[in-house]
Amino acid sequence: MKKVENKSVKLIAASFLLFALVICLEGVACAQTKETAGRSGGLMPVPSSVRDIPGRLAVTGDFRVSFVGNKDPRLERYVSRVLRRIEGRTVLELPRDFAGDSGSAALVIEARAAGKAVPELREDESYSLKIDETQARLTAPTSLGAMRGLETLLQLLQSDSDGFFLPAVDIEDKPRFPWRGLMIDSARHFQPMEVLKRNLDGMAAVKLNVFHWHLTEDQGFRVESRKFPKLHGLGSDGLFYTQEEIKEIIEYAADRGIRVVPEFDMPGHATAWLVGHPELGSAPGPYTIERNPGIFDPTMDPTKETTYEFLAVFLAEMAGLFPDAYIHIGGDENEGKQWDANPDIQAFMKEKGLKDNHELQNEFNKRVLAILKKHGKTMMGWDEIFQPDLPQDVVIHSWRGQEALAEAARKGYFGVLSNGYYIDLMYPASDHYLVDPVPAGTTLSVEEQKRVLGGEATMWSEWVSPETIDSRIWPRTAGIAERLWSAGSVNDVDDMYRRLEIVSIQLEEHGLTHRRNRRVMLRRLLQSNDTADLERLVSLIEPVKQYQRYQQRKQTMLSPLTGLIDAAGADAPGAREFRRLVREKLKARSVKFDSELRVQFISWQGTGTRLEQTMANAAALHEAKGLAGDLRKMGEIGIEALEHLADGDSPAGWRETTLSRLKEISKPKAALEFAVIKSLEELVKAASENKPGSKTSVEN
Ligand code: ACM
Repeated sequence: MKKVENKSVKLIAASFLLFALVICLEGVACAQTKETAGRSGGLMPVPSSVRDIPGRLAVTGDFRVSFVGNKDPRLERYVSRVLRRIEGRTVLELPRDFAGDSGSAALVIEARAAGKAVPELREDESYSLKIDETQARLTAPTSLGAMRGLETLLQLLQSDSDGFFLPAVDIEDKPRFPWRGLMIDSARHFQPMEVLKRNLDGMAAVKLNVFHWHLTEDQGFRVESRKFPKLHGLGSDGLFYTQEEIKEIIEYAADRGIRVVPEFDMPGHATAWLVGHPELGSAPGPYTIERNPGIFDPTMDPTKETTYEFLAVFLAEMAGLFPDAYIHIGGDENEGKQWDANPDIQAFMKEKGLKDNHELQNEFNKRVLAILKKHGKTMMGWDEIFQPDLPQDVVIHSWRGQEALAEAARKGYFGVLSNGYYIDLMYPASDHYLVDPVPAGTTLSVEEQKRVLGGEATMWSEWVSPETIDSRIWPRTAGIAERLWSAGSVNDVDDMYRRLEIVSIQLEEHGLTHRRNRRVMLRRLLQSNDTADLERLVSLIEPVKQYQRYQQRKQTMLSPLTGLIDAAGADAPGAREFRRLVREKLKARSVKFDSELRVQFISWQGTGTRLEQTMANAAALHEAKGLAGDLRKMGEIGIEALEHLADGDSPAGWRETTLSRLKEISKPKAALEFAVIKSLEELVKAASENKPGSKTSVEN
């Protein structure tokens, strides 16, 4: 991968431009570096090819747009929203009308066709964006590509002492994968319409194109069924989407070039179905809405014809409601306990020669597939549906791993990856970012690779409320969006984080609350405006990862999600900065970073000491108050470590005592842990690696 660098750009030699053109061929990412950060270096996802050009297009109050050729209403609406966003950032009032002729327009859009009113898989999303000192020209085969290009244009907008401008640039772009999704689980915790809408806006901003809507679960049945009103009527606590609302979301998504793929999880994860329709179950019931997280027994009975009669009517209704060609049937985590315990089901299996529950579920899948096919729908399901003799026209959604996906592709199935993109598990963006649906060095043939359609970030909602969900989705999902759009060679983690900061601020213009709600929550916990100390603590701690949260801090779906753990997030920003400082310090072994580190440690000491008192007095924080003392102690340890590093000497026993103190501090409290312990440990080890009396090579 060849990087375009600003220094080179300054040399406007024609030969360089020619060279740049050559190196930025299709599929070769001409990624930005820190040096170009002020020009096209804030783009996320990174386009297929970017050529920075000297010069800029000023953005002023008469920034007008004109359309060449096609000017469909959907694109017009998109452009109007883009102009409002430019206004929001620039505080300039822009003309409300479009320019009549392209000559006088600052931005000329040429989308050669409207594209599908409701987006489809594999629609052309490519575009080219050329900006010079007089005009920006956005060209695309369809409006869909133009929409993607408009988001790039918005990311290019910047300002300096001369005002707002778009840097001159020549961009050619298209996605690497056609399926780039975000799944939102509206079932475990219902998410109101405005949550979905602002997240659809966020998705469009980073060029995601599939909203996978997880609508049914043990904990809730969230879609109105007019055929079977007891489904949502008894299975949702009154929290469901009416069909009118569903249509509104589909339209909202289509307006932003996003498909909506619904998921109705079956035959397992089905408790909420059975509350109103126990006759579907493999045990008599009665059933009540599940309030706990986990895997539960209630499962549809695959041996009864009445189950399929019911599903035929239900799926016909849903097939009419959701225009997308794909319907997701879940299919995950059915442990078959009700099947094992039901003599009729056991007899059925014996009669049909089905040797285990997988084979029985496969029979179920085939029946559901036939129903979906009748309505022209393609079936999609989680890994578990992947069984021998299932026809190849299903899509395998892999949550178990890249290898499972590759295996499906080898056997001729299409697949979408979500393993590695489980944003509910609280891993840092960097972890997700480096997971590739088709990793470098894949053994898949070119043909097989094409069967890997892309990936989806999955926002499972056991522990998210409308107040916190954005902070779990953003900005990390922008990193996943880049993985799915940009070349695999775009994989510089530090640069990803740099751009994530920029994008994160831009995402706020959609009303996303990923940043702002933290302070709201801290104010509520403290019942005070004075949140600075608690914010400092939260910037260093993260919720425990994987599924440890529930193990350490039992809650149900009815519990308030308003604790300190809910205010904290993955990728604690202060922690990342601290880790960087320690890394630099230990690499350089110079006193250069000492003052910065010392300031941090003194601040930890002071903050920790004050918080011990504050948190003792704020009862909502009692569960986490041990973190305050830990912070104070880490400050002390840090200062000692710096001193010993400078001395090249540490007292006998200091290393052991200190490491064991850190081990104690590393134990989570209220399911929260410091994200700086490892770095502090490294500092302590470095400060004590020399025998007393022998000076280290510390130098200026
Ligand atoms: C899943 O995580 N059970 C799809």
